[in-house]
Amino acid sequence: MAKRLPVVLAVALAAVLTWQPAAAQTAKARATAKVDLEARFKEVQADPTLADSLYKTGRKVAAVCAHCHGEGGNSPTTSIPNLAGQNPAYLLEQLRQFADGRRRNEFMEGMIRAMNSDEKIGMVLFYAAQEVTHKPSANTALVHKGQEYYGKICFRCHGNVGRGNEQIARIAGQQPEYLRLTLKRYRDGNDVRANSIMTPNTKNMTDADIEAVVAYVSSMP
Ligand code: HEC
Ligand code: HEC
Repeated sequence: MAKRLPVVLAVALAAVLTWQPAAAQTAKARATAKVDLEARFKEVQADPTLADSLYKTGRKVAAVCAHCHGEGGNSPTTSIPNLAGQNPAYLLEQLRQFADGRRRNEFMEGMIRAMNSDEKIGMVLFYAAQEVTHKPSANTALVHKGQEYYGKICFRCHGNVGRGNEQIARIAGQQPEYLRLTLKRYRDGNDVRANSIMTPNTKNMTDADIEAVVAYVSSMP
């Protein structure tokens, strides 16, 4: 990736965000820098007019993210996660983790610094409402192995259909290379995603288990 890309995109993000509708501008003024994302999110959920206005802000933010995460949050690159259909509270938690250093990705950290609270909330509202493109796998034997493993451990938190809940990530239909990378990082205790509950839940996985689970999870609708 070109070194200049982040700068170009940050400028694009700033330009996109100045086109906000009046309602979002007011909302932005009310959302001070220190506002607690969770409290503000609850406020937005309870106010349909505000939610609608921030959704539109989110759609504009997403136009910048589309470069990597794809139109409507279906990533065109298998190592970059889909954001489509992702649970809002999980996304907000990841933004917090990028911001406070628990999760490391230099580019995403910069991107998030450039967004205020209401832009973050608008973005998660927008992505949560997008459909995930289904990508069935051709390797049914591997998928079956993965399903078996999934049914022993993963379903407890991510649910039988892989869509998580308000707090836990949707993983159904996630990009395979991103899943593989992420599971190995958790398992190996890599500090890119430190202190995650996922570390004890992956520590017994062999590379073969990971391959099977990736085949199953990425093909879940
Ligand atoms: C230059 C490419 C690029 C752009 C542009 C980009 N991202 Fe990302 N994003 C990534 C990569 C790569 C990751 C995965 C990081 C990792 O390895 O954990 C990621 C991860 C994320 C995650 C965590 C997803 C998860 O499932 O845990 C969120 C949330 C996110 N990005 C939001 C955004 C938003 C919002 C924008 C636009 C304002 C954006 N990204 C723009 C590359 C990008
Ligand atoms: C005890 C509950 C629990 C179990 C069991 C569990 N997970 Fe998770 N998982 C979580 C939580 C909580 C997160 C978010 C953690 C974080 O912020 O790093 C997560 C995150 C993930 C992510 C990252 C999602 C993203 O978009 O970046 C993947 C992939 C994942 N889990 C896959 C699995 C698989 C595969 C299994 C079974 C081997 C599994 N999980 C078992 C709770 C669980």
